[in-house]
Amino acid sequence: MTSPTEAPKHVVVGVGGGIAAYKAIEIVRALVEQGIFVSPVLTPAAKNFVGELTFSALGSEAARSELFSDQSTPIPHTYLGQKADAIVVVPTTAHLLARLAMGLADDLLTATILATRSPVILAPAMHTEMWEQPSVQQNVEVLRSRGYIFVGPVDGALAGGDSGMGRLAEPEAIVKMVLAVSKGFSGPLSGRRVVVSAGATKEPLDPVRYLTNRSSGRQGYALAEVAARLGASVVLVTGSDRAVAPDVSRNIEIQKVTTALQMKRALLDSMPSADVVIMAAAVADYTFEAAPEKLKKGDGPPNPQWLETPDILAELVQQKTAGQVVVGFAAETTDVLSNARAKMVKKGVDLLIANDVSDPSIGFDSADNAVTILSPSDEPFYLERSSKDSIALQVLTRVISLLLKEKA
Ligand code: C5P
Repeated sequence: MTSPTEAPKHVVVGVGGGIAAYKAIEIVRALVEQGIFVSPVLTPAAKNFVGELTFSALGSEAARSELFSDQSTPIPHTYLGQKADAIVVVPTTAHLLARLAMGLADDLLTATILATRSPVILAPAMHTEMWEQPSVQQNVEVLRSRGYIFVGPVDGALAGGDSGMGRLAEPEAIVKMVLAVSKGFSGPLSGRRVVVSAGATKEPLDPVRYLTNRSSGRQGYALAEVAARLGASVVLVTGSDRAVAPDVSRNIEIQKVTTALQMKRALLDSMPSADVVIMAAAVADYTFEAAPEKLKKGDGPPNPQWLETPDILAELVQQKTAGQVVVGFAAETTDVLSNARAKMVKKGVDLLIANDVSDPSIGFDSADNAVTILSPSDEPFYLERSSKDSIALQVLTRVISLLLKEKA
């Protein structure tokens, strides 16, 4: 296996037509300094903000913006798309998001993105009003579900003296993401089997009613997608019917379950062949002896017997053999870190991902998350609010280093 710290050989830095385009200059320079071959590609609108010459001077080759009159190659989009190990778009404007979501190829940058099989990282930047438009959010959702990796935007100062959500993520964070994604180029999880559980379970009370919880499954789905992108063969055991189905062409087998007991069976079956098990599911703590017929209102408030569900994670840890890595999640509303640490010790997991679900802007059913990664051997590591894909990538990066340690 190639070392996951290996740098990518070729990154296309796409520049969109927004005021944050000037920050792309810094990103090109930083990537070149990391030994990466950088091909700058500007949209026609980007040239209103920054000069092509600046990018030609700082990039590894001349900047391009033309689809049809490139002197060096008659088909620049396939040259770039096929050669790129990753593409990053800084800033990704609302218009670019729309064009990408539609699959348009009306300039060199969008054509290049369609002509690549490599990861594409989008760093959006726009005013809050634009970012919050349902049309823009819908495009973001579509792109996320197709595996595009988002960095930011973040809250902060915007052009024109405004401030709010929509600011470009810090250039260092974008560079970090390009480098982290680059670790996936050679597939640090290739040959590995990763089992992920996601979503809520549903515990039937009678044939029409059930007890469930607010988990959407989106973080677990992001983990499954990103693990597949990093080369793993993935089993996704899911109780979710709300998260957008991952791209199964990427080696993701989906096993749909309803109850905690079904989830337990599916996971215990998959455990022996797994290298990594990630329990991102929100498993119900209680189930019932379901009534065979619909409970009637006239019979008064139902009083079913509450039965504890099995602690699947604890059972998985019991079955764990040398070399396997088991990761748990803890959704907490109070004393997040101390509760999560206690859970890590009690459950005996290798990593525990704690998130504060009392904050509605992260956690359940939101596009973003902010978590703390706890491990028995390292200091807690706080990951600031970012997309569930980027949280997944960070968690998997930790998993990869544990797998490598196990091997050493
Ligand atoms: O104990 P608690 O539910 O807070 O622990 C959360 C972790 O345990 C999560 O990783 C969750 O998937 C897992 N869990 C489980 N079986 C249960 C309850 C939770 O595996 N019955």
